This record gives sequence, structure tokens and C-alpha cells, in this order.
Amino acid sequence: MTSDEIRESYLSFFERQGHKRLQSASLVPASYDPSVLLTTAGMHPLKPYFQGLETPPAARLTSCQKCFRTPDIDVVGTTTRHLTFFEMLGNFSMGDYFKQGAAEFAWDMSLNGFGFDPEKIWVTVFEGDEELGLGLDEEAVEAWLAIGVPRERIVPCPRSENFWQAGETGPCGPCSELYYDRGLEWGTEDDLPGGENERFLEYWNLVFMQYNQDPVNTLTPLPKKNIDTGLGLNRMALIQQGVDSVFDTDQFVPLMQLGQSLTASGKHDDRALRILADHTRGMTFLIADGVVPSNEDRGYVLRRLMRRAIAQGHRLGFEGEFLTKYVDVVQETMGAAYPELGRERDTILRWAQAEEQGFGRTLETGLIMLEDLLGRGEVSGEDAFKLHDTFGFPIDLTTEIAGEREVPVDIAGYDALMEEQRLRSSAGAGGQERVGARQEVIRQLSEEPTDFTGYEHLEERTTVAGVLEQGGRTFVKLAASPFYAQGGGQVSDEGVILSADGEPRATVSEVLRAGEDQAIALEGVGDGLKAGDTVLARVDRPARTATQANHTATHLLHAALRQTLGTHVRQAGSYVGPDKLRFDFTHGTRLSPEELREVEDQVNAWVLQNDPVRPITTTLDEARELGAMALFGEKYGDVVRMVQIGGGEYSRELCGGTHVRATAEIGVFKIVSEGSSASNVRRIEAVTGPEAVTLLRSHDALIREAAGELRTSPEQVPAKVADLQRALKDAQKAAQSGGGANGAVDVAALANAAEVVEGVKVLTSRVEVGDARALLDATDRVKNAIGDAAIVLGAVTDGKVALVASVAQPLVERGLKAGDLVKVAAEVVGGGGGGRPTLAQAGGRDPEKLDDALAAAAERIRSVLA
Ligand code: SER
Repeated sequence: MTSDEIRESYLSFFERQGHKRLQSASLVPASYDPSVLLTTAGMHPLKPYFQGLETPPAARLTSCQKCFRTPDIDVVGTTTRHLTFFEMLGNFSMGDYFKQGAAEFAWDMSLNGFGFDPEKIWVTVFEGDEELGLGLDEEAVEAWLAIGVPRERIVPCPRSENFWQAGETGPCGPCSELYYDRGLEWGTEDDLPGGENERFLEYWNLVFMQYNQDPVNTLTPLPKKNIDTGLGLNRMALIQQGVDSVFDTDQFVPLMQLGQSLTASGKHDDRALRILADHTRGMTFLIADGVVPSNEDRGYVLRRLMRRAIAQGHRLGFEGEFLTKYVDVVQETMGAAYPELGRERDTILRWAQAEEQGFGRTLETGLIMLEDLLGRGEVSGEDAFKLHDTFGFPIDLTTEIAGEREVPVDIAGYDALMEEQRLRSSAGAGGQERVGARQEVIRQLSEEPTDFTGYEHLEERTTVAGVLEQGGRTFVKLAASPFYAQGGGQVSDEGVILSADGEPRATVSEVLRAGEDQAIALEGVGDGLKAGDTVLARVDRPARTATQANHTATHLLHAALRQTLGTHVRQAGSYVGPDKLRFDFTHGTRLSPEELREVEDQVNAWVLQNDPVRPITTTLDEARELGAMALFGEKYGDVVRMVQIGGGEYSRELCGGTHVRATAEIGVFKIVSEGSSASNVRRIEAVTGPEAVTLLRSHDALIREAAGELRTSPEQVPAKVADLQRALKDAQKAAQSGGGANGAVDVAALANAAEVVEGVKVLTSRVEVGDARALLDATDRVKNAIGDAAIVLGAVTDGKVALVASVAQPLVERGLKAGDLVKVAAEVVGGGGGGRPTLAQAGGRDPEKLDDALAAAAERIRSVLA
């Protein structure tokens, strides 16, 4: 049996037994379940059904679920059976059949589907556990005996083996596992299933999910008794294909062969080939589900996977880029069962290539750093962690290379640091609890869900279904509500609650969502809002209108980005409010001004087309068929709401938000900023409608203000600023060569220009400076440069004349006084001034006569000294 045949025969067997076949959910868990980073079991996407929070589409379900188990990353390659990514086949009963039914189906399928000899099947059952207060699972024993399994092949096992839970707390139950006996050539007479041996291969886990555990070790029965079974597809392929290792099964042989063909001659390393096969497969599926390599959360898991694979390829001497070659093989072997591999092919190749190129450089740096550490004779935990964490250099590589050189690595120290980091970054269960608490509030208010009418109207006459005071807040639930509850990036509606005759009663502060249901947190509630009251619920129209424009614009932006940059662009988060929109998307590099302009132009072109925006209710399959964009990790039921713009040529998205009726209502779309929000994730913020007009108008006003300051027209502002910049740069350059703050004054040149009159250095000159203060500074510096002298400098600043005279003390004694000099000069330019004998200043009104004034001063000096 090939892997494809195993999958199909399992699913169709259970379909024949009345089970509804479900598509595999994404590897990225639904956003409301933050308890795991990635889907780890078939039951995971079904958790809300087991918990009784949501109604399942049928009481009997079956699926082949894509799973990823992060803790196994390091083990992969060292065993014949561990994988990170794998497929789990399962059948589920939501309060329908229980232990007997599950056992019968498993038996039937094992014999008639998988063709097992009944003599070769052994089963284990839960032996009981004191802490949990449970005894031997008699019901399970009875079920197997009834089928005809002999008592000696029913083996009781402890809690560690046969009690399954989805997390520390939550739905759980005893289980019963099926084992295939591979015979004495694989072990001994004394071997038993459940132990560490090769003779008995576990292939199917039946979980009798009947309790909720909370707190740990305290069990309460779930609303219904459920069945959750899991059968690892690759494990079954190993048995069916009669091979010793999952890496020898049909899904892996082509990947192993590719590795061998790329390996440089003389090298052989099975572990490395297995790591490459497993990790590239996991990589391909993770990227197809929207994960991009980064340093956070699942992006980090993916990056680790890719880097470990790349490092192994280097060790084996692979030449050139090879990740994309693996992607091709994964697609060939699994693309038929998983069409997303084809759909997302370009995206997968793009990220694979980018990471391989980026990490190639890291690898080189890491090897150099490691070389240095090895030279010192040991690698500390901190160094190993730094290599791993800062440089992305995998620990396996560190230990391997260090091992070859017999240099010890402090693995314990490294592990401790990793653990710290894990705690820092692990997705806590807090979010789940908050969702639970919200759910509880909403349910306490009233069992009957609110009818959301806000797609059609913004005002609703309705009744109060429940009122609750909790933690100092007032919550109400309305029978029908026009208020949008925060979700899908869109903020809650603002609004008011009025009495039946239109008197304001309270303001809406928040609308809480749990699935399709909602509760409204109120502010300023006077007394007397009670269940049964008739009220008028009114949404704040301007805020809603602005929010809708931003929401539709977000879809247009998404479409324009994919058109301009490529289909690897995927929404990675969004905020849609009345003030602006923010859109995070997967893309590796900064957008050029041209790209931003193209995107903005495209969105505005669609706005001008005034295309209709239509929400369409359809099935998930139909929507997929139509190429609708779905948010990765979002949970969608069978029936979905798809928002289509125009005829759907450029935008179809699954979305529960509110939208304008036609694109022209957006008015205008303006990008405000583009930046990065995480590695490989870019962020664009934009405004629309009146906000955009306000923004553009404020830009206009700023330009006009700047033009005023520059005494020019708005059109001339850039040229004028460029002029000023140039002048400033020139001035700075001159100041640097002149040695100080005095702008263009060339002190050395002035010093050279001094004449000697009667044995005394004399300088009278005009200079270019900004103001009188600068003239004073210039004089001072010239004086320092030429020593004892008589100096008179003049300048024209602001249309007036400034004069400074400086006379060295010995010259004062010869009768030369600075005050006299400036006075003589100032008279010529129609002004006056004075000062001390050594330093004096004066001003004048007539710039034309500055040279005459300086000449008069020079004349005076000569006559005094003569
Ligand atoms: N949830 C169980 C498991 O993962 C059975 O599907 O093994």
C-alpha cells in the first residue's frame, strides 16, 4: 500500500461508516487557540467541539491532519521513526459511539483495510491511576473481549502510556492502543506492547475523551463522551511496505535519493540525509501554510528547520543551492494530496532561496567564530547559545565540529539558556483563558446568541437579553445588535444605547466577541437597565463609515501588493479602525518609492472604477475554488462569508468585517508609511476618505508655511531649500578650512594682507560676515594670528555697516586709540561708536562708503604713527 492508498482507504472506510470527511486544517492553529504554536494532533482543530464550545458539523468526523511536533526536531535522524512533520489519520465521535464502537471500527479497518492477521494485533488499555482516582478501564477490556481479542493480548498500561491529554489541562481521557506484532525476529517471547522494544509497533491510538482536567489531576466529565483516534500515516506505511525505517517508505525514498545524489563523493551520513529529508518536507508544508522564516514563534521553528537542513547539506558537500530541489521532490510526492503545495509553489521557492542565500553567509561567519572558540580549548554554554541565537548557527553543528576536534561543549549551560528563552517565547495558555472568560461572560448574560444585524443597518430597536456587573464593568447582551464586535482586525463599533423613547442610556465602550456571539461593555449606565427592556441601539455612523472604507481599502491594498510584488505576499496581521488602516504582510525587503507609488496608484484606480463590493455566503470549498484569500490560521466553518470586489477579478477574501458598498466610497487612498514589523514582514499604514483629505491638506499647509518662511512660492520650495543647503555646506566647508565658527573669513589671508607702517603691522580690510558679533570674533582671531598690530575691519550686514578696531597695548602707548579709529571711520558711513583704547566698535548707515571709511581709518593710523 502506498501512502496515498493508506490515506484514501482510511478516510473512505470511515466515510462509509457515516463519518464526515474534513479537510486537513492549517498547521497554524486557529488564532483563538494560542496554546500551541503549531497543530500537533488531529484532534487539535476539533478542540472546541470536544469542549462543547461549538457545534460540530456532524457527530462522526474523519480527517487526515497535517501535524508538526517541535520537540522532535533534535531527535530526527537519530531514530528510524521520528519526524517533525507527519500526517495523522483519525476518526472522531462527538458524543456518538464510544469505546465499543471505536474498538470495532479499528478492528474492522485493521483486518479488512490494512489486511492484518488478527493474531498479530495486540492492544493496551489504561490500568488506572491513583492520582486521577481511576481504576482499570474495564469498559475497554470488555470492548476488546467482545470483539474476540484473547485476554492475554489485552495489556494494561500505566498513565504515562495510556492516558492522553491535549495539554496540561483540558480535554483528556484513558486510551487504548493497537500494536502490530512483527514477530520473534524483532525481539523475544517476553516482550510486551507498551515497552521499549522493536517487536511491537504501536500504530493506532484510541482516546476515550471523556474528562476535562482542570486543575491538573482533577477530572470532571465532559458534556459528552467522545472518541479521538490517531494513526500515524508514515508509521503505517512502514508496516505496509515492510521496511525498517520511515525514511525507506514511499514518501521519503525520493528525498533520500536526492540527498545521495547531491552528496560529494566519499561522504556518507545517514543521519544528515534523514534530517534533510524530514526538515525540507516540514519546511515546504509550513511555508505553504503561511509561515515565513523569522526569529519569533513559528517563524523561528521554520528558520531552525531550514538552517539545520542547510548546515547538513554543507556537511555533505552539496554544491549550489539545494533547498528548492527538495521542494520539487516534496511537491512531486505529496502535491496531489495537498494542492496548497502547488498553489503556494512560488512562495515556497522564494523563501527557501532567500533563507539559503542569507544563511550561507551566516554559516561562514559562524564557522570562523567557532574556529576561534575551538582554539581556546572549550565552548561555553554561553558561546554555544550565542552562536545559535545571535548567529543562527545550529547547536548540532557546534557539537559535531567540536566533537571531531575533541573540544568539550557545555551542553548543560546551553540547554539552560535555551530553556530560559523557550519560557520567554512560549505561547502561554493565557490567551485561551481570556477567550474562555469572555465566553463565560457572554453565556452568563444569556444562552441565546445575539443576532448581529450590523451588516444591514446601524440602528436597531431590540430588547436587553441580559445584564451583568463584573469586575466593576457593566455588560449587556442584546437580542439583536447592530454593533460590530472586534474581530478580523476590525475594531468594535462605537455607539450608544437609548431608551425606547430616545433618551441616552449608556455609551458602548467595547463589544466583546466569542465566535458569532457578543456582549457589550457599557459606560455611564444610569440605574435601571434590565433584562427585558426595549432599547434603541445606535452605531456611531461617521466612525463606522470611516472604518468600512479602511476595511475595503485593506483588501484592495492586499490585492495591489500581490500584483506588484508577487503572490508570496500574504496578510500577516491588520488593524482597521476609523482613523487608519495598518497592514502587515510577508515580504523580505523594503518597498522602493516606485513600488509604493504603483501600489497606491493601483488602489486609487480601483477606487475610481467604483466597483461593487459584495459579501457572498458560500461553502469553504467553493471559496477556495474561486481562489479566495483566507487568513492562515483563521478558523472557518463549512459555510463562509467571502467578500468580493468587482467581479472578483482581483479581490476575493474570506472576511467577516463590514465594507463599503462600492469602492468609490473610499474616496482616496494614501499610504502614510512603510516599514518592517518583524523579519520578513513589512508594515504599511494608510488613510482613506476624509482622513486622507485632512492629511493632504495639512501637507499643503506645511508647504505653504515653508514657502512663506523662505520668501518664495510653494513650487520653488525644493529649489530654494536645495540652494540653502548648498550655501550652508559651502559655509561649513569654509569654516572648517578657516578653522572655526567664523564662516567665510579667511584669517590666514587677512594676516598676510597686513602692511608694515613705521615698524607696526597695520590691517584695514572689509570682510564678509553675518553680523557684528562675527566681525568681533574675526578681529580677535586676526589679532591672534598677526600679533601686536592695529586692525580695523568693516563689514556690511543686513544693509548696515559694522566696524571694529583693535589696537595692541604697546601701540596705544604710541598714541593710537581704537575708539578714535572707529569714530573716524564711522563718520564716513554716517554713524558713530566707541569703546576702549584697545578695542572699539561702531556702526554706520551707508554701506556704499565702507571702503572710504576704512581708508579714512588707515589714513588716521599712518598720521598718528608718523
Ligand atoms: N490525540 C491522540 C494523539 O495525538 C489521538 O489522535 O495521539
